[in-house]
Amino acid sequence: MAKQISLSQYLIEKQREKNLIPAELRLLLEVVARACKRISYAVGKGALTGVLGAAGSDNIQGEAQQKLDVIANETLLEANEWGGHLAAMASEEMDHPYPIPNRYPKGEFLLLFDPLDGSSNIDVNVSIGTIFSVLRLPEGVSEPLEHHFLQPGSNQLAAGYAVYGPSTLLVLTVGDGVACFTLDRETGSWWLTCDGMSVPEDTKEYAINASNSRHWFEPVQRYVADLTAGKTGPLAKDYNMRWVASMVADVHRIMTRGGIFMYPADRREPDKPGKLRLMYEANPMAFLVEQAGGGATNGRERILDIQPTKLHERVAVFLGSKNEVVRATRYHEGG
Ligand code: AHG
Ligand code: MN
Ligand code: MN
Repeated sequence: MAKQISLSQYLIEKQREKNLIPAELRLLLEVVARACKRISYAVGKGALTGVLGAAGSDNIQGEAQQKLDVIANETLLEANEWGGHLAAMASEEMDHPYPIPNRYPKGEFLLLFDPLDGSSNIDVNVSIGTIFSVLRLPEGVSEPLEHHFLQPGSNQLAAGYAVYGPSTLLVLTVGDGVACFTLDRETGSWWLTCDGMSVPEDTKEYAINASNSRHWFEPVQRYVADLTAGKTGPLAKDYNMRWVASMVADVHRIMTRGGIFMYPADRREPDKPGKLRLMYEANPMAFLVEQAGGGATNGRERILDIQPTKLHERVAVFLGSKNEVVRATRYHEGG
């Protein structure tokens, strides 16, 4: 029987043999994985420990926080603040960055996360997850401030997501392809279950919240009309549609069997381009999808090239199978 590879072993190989990541980044990723494991256990206990339901507070996006949003945020903060690898953290659930407390040593990395993605699915027992992104604090900076986080996604050193579904998975990139680890919930170990994940270039599956179609701009309306027109339409293909409403679950399906995921900008809030957040949702997912051979744009430009201007900035997202993302992007050029 082939020998199983643990997450630690996988990362040590990236550090020692391939010299791709420094030891501090490896340790940081192990701590993030440990926090995801804890979140997975909290999610798994569900109603037994009273973690379901609303927290009774709102986040900076004006969204009602669920108890698990808050628990997951605190779990990630507590796990990561003392290790000495980080300069600061930023999260969907916190208005401003969280500096590492003075009582702990500080490192050179910045960690950003969506602690609990897919909050509307918590109480209905559908897959949810955690998304994270690692940047480096710019050189010469001793006190990390919000603007130090505002780096394009192409600067990411690592990114990943955990899916809390039928099994708990961790999908990770350090810029050398994408690997997937499955949590053995009895022993608490992460094991490599898929290396070199690859998104098929073509697809017959799309994901979009079609209930918003009346708000979409013309290019998206035209593109989705062509997708739904099927074999006798201009794309000459019958497409299938899936929408979990947890980005992690939708993206994981696409990482596994291809597809295109879309959350476009629409007419409702002209000053907010789309619903998803650039820094801790779109950027890490775009990095992962590109590392698996797929594409990711905002309909016009590559997501990883966007220069962020705000920590909680929103962005339109089209990501997944490369040829389909190119096609969706072409509709925005009027072609
Ligand atoms: P979050 O729970 O972190 O706020 O993210 C939810 C996001 C994303 O996971 C999902 O793709 C999208 O919201 C679903 O939006 P709709 O409810 O509009 O379908
Ligand atoms: Mn989210
Ligand atoms: Mn969230």
